[in-house]
Amino acid sequence: MSPTEPRDEIDSEMVRYYAARAGEYDDWYLRRGRYSHGRSADEEWRHDLDAAATWLEGRPFHGRVVELAAGTGWWSTSLARRSALTLYDASAETLDRARIRLTAAGLDAEVGVRDAWAEPDQSVDGVFAGFWLSHVDRSRLDEFVALVARWLVRGGLFAFIDSRHDPDSGASDHRPPEDDLQVRRLDDGSSFRVRKVYYEPAALDSALRRAGFGQIEVATTGRFFLLGSARRGA
Ligand SMILES: C[S@@+](CC[C@H](N)C(=O)[O-])C[C@H]1O[C@@H](n2cnc3c(N)ncnc32)[C@H](O)[C@@H]1O
Repeated sequence: MSPTEPRDEIDSEMVRYYAARAGEYDDWYLRRGRYSHGRSADEEWRHDLDAAATWLEGRPFHGRVVELAAGTGWWSTSLARRSALTLYDASAETLDRARIRLTAAGLDAEVGVRDAWAEPDQSVDGVFAGFWLSHVDRSRLDEFVALVARWLVRGGLFAFIDSRHDPDSGASDHRPPEDDLQVRRLDDGSSFRVRKVYYEPAALDSALRRAGFGQIEVATTGRFFLLGSARRGA
């Protein structure tokens, strides 16, 4: 399998979805348009988003870091400030946005189209993935976490931010996932199926443990996000 070849029908639909959504992706972070859920929920969202950013700033990333499924690079500037960062994503369209964001911040990083499931092409001190684990099928979580371990040098840091289930998290015209599958619409009315798995912290903790990670911490912000980190064991 080539590093950019998606694996199944949903996987390839997710790639097409995020490519088509690239120009409106940040509306979700910024609670614009269909992603606004009223003043109170939007304030809580911003509070949690700030908490997640502060948490990420506090993770001791250094040296060479790979960001998988990096999207429009929302978190990449934080990582690029303190590491030699390589960003990968399956969609060139989202990465174009990430490049613009990094350039605007005066930061440098390697950027490349690459499937998150591809075998590592280097050995790194850190791996970060934002809102990617929730796109990993439950049956393949162990496989993905083991892959992350193969990216890392011994003692290397893995950190992730992801979604908790909340009706005020997605677009107002999206229904919650059923059987971990969700239909997502874009502003132009097109729709796509994505896999969306709301992992409990305990499930992620166990998967990390099974893959030999140590110093595992999986926490939550007040409402919307999961924050996790772990170190590759011996
Ligand atoms: C929810 S977005 C997260 C983007 C970014 N990490 C963030 O936190 O804002 C999921 C990302 O996964 C990417 N993606 C989907 N399937 C992928 C795959 N098989 N390999 C790599 N990236 C993939 C999409 O293009 C999209 O940018």
